[in-house]
Amino acid sequence: MTYDVAKVRALYPALADGWAYLDGAAGTQVPRSVIDAESATYAAGIGNHGAYFAASKRSDAASRAAREGIVDLVGAPAVEGVALGPSMTALTYRFADGLSKTWKPGDEIVVTRLDHDANVRPWVQAAERAGVTVRWAVPTLPDVELPVEAVTEHLSERTRLVAVTAASNVIGTRPDVRAIADAAHAAGALVYVDGVHATPHVPVDVAALGADFYATSAYKWSGPHLATVVGEPALLETVMPDKLASSSTDVPDRFEYGTSPFAQHAGMAAAVDHVAGLGALAGAGGQPGPDAPRRERILASMAAVEAYEQALLARMIAGLAAMDHVERFGSPALQAPTIWFRVRGLTPDQVAEHCAKAEVNVWSGHNYAWELAGLLGIRDSGSAVRASLSVYSSDEDVDRLLEAVAALG
Ligand SMILES: Cc1ncc(COP(=O)(O)O)c(C=O)c1O
Repeated sequence: MTYDVAKVRALYPALADGWAYLDGAAGTQVPRSVIDAESATYAAGIGNHGAYFAASKRSDAASRAAREGIVDLVGAPAVEGVALGPSMTALTYRFADGLSKTWKPGDEIVVTRLDHDANVRPWVQAAERAGVTVRWAVPTLPDVELPVEAVTEHLSERTRLVAVTAASNVIGTRPDVRAIADAAHAAGALVYVDGVHATPHVPVDVAALGADFYATSAYKWSGPHLATVVGEPALLETVMPDKLASSSTDVPDRFEYGTSPFAQHAGMAAAVDHVAGLGALAGAGGQPGPDAPRRERILASMAAVEAYEQALLARMIAGLAAMDHVERFGSPALQAPTIWFRVRGLTPDQVAEHCAKAEVNVWSGHNYAWELAGLLGIRDSGSAVRASLSVYSSDEDVDRLLEAVAALG
């Protein structure tokens, strides 16, 4: 398999500092093209959207380009079905608010103890307000898998919503979302999929996943700090979050509170173009030509990224497995390239601080996998250390981590 990571790394100015950025799960660096797209948008002059003057039309064009990019990135149904927002958390609260207005006491929802808290708490709190019962799907231990039955055993004709992740942001577990969605739909429930950790690592097709709603955050795939939730426009029409009397009731505008960050929308579109070009840039096999539709290039590019990151993940896991003083959590069959581990005798904070001295970026703490940290019994003792790979991670990055952790043995 060819994936010339040096060519990819050369596009990211921040990597020139020489640190090993194994913190992509908390946000990636951005390539020059994204930085340039944002600064060119500001330099050209922008205005608030919807006015008659050219600067305003440039803002509208930037937002449209961002929506078109998302349609291609995840196979969303239409630009009208792409709601943009500051973060997945903020958008999910809006969807929880809107969807829960149709829930009745006695209804039920299903959330998981695998998910990031942003796909748990908004639903739990909305359920509490609506008098709705929350059912918890629990991953199996110690492998930290989420078998389909762990979710489907909670389904009934009372289920209104299933909220499930496409990939755990700490263990990397990738549940069989399609099978879960099919069962949820058969029960008459909607499915809200957290794609924040999956989208940077695998080709995504919202329809193939069976997701009614799919969330992703651009800052995890080389874009700006922005997020989106996508769905069929006709379905979004049925969801009405609290909003200003004076703001548009149109879809997706009703989900987009206040004035949008238009320059960052341009950056989001540029990040999608960047993803589409990664496979060809890295010299990976099976890449369509530059004139192929962007969606096709994205799928091929992400297939190359997935293969590359999986090989790197195997190197990281094997390296840590050889260290007696390291305990890794979970061993899922399908795993996004992210690991969670502890070093015996040290707190996760101590390990992360030690790694930082070796210029290796890793996270320590619960990483918002609040329920899972509780389930594993590690939340009160600092949870774990997270190392996560990105499109620009290299063998050298992984080896630097392994060396730093080995020194703690
Ligand atoms: C899997 C997952 N879901 C949700 C979120 C929350 O995303 P945001 O920061 O856009 O609210 C994150 C962020 O780390 C995440 O990794």
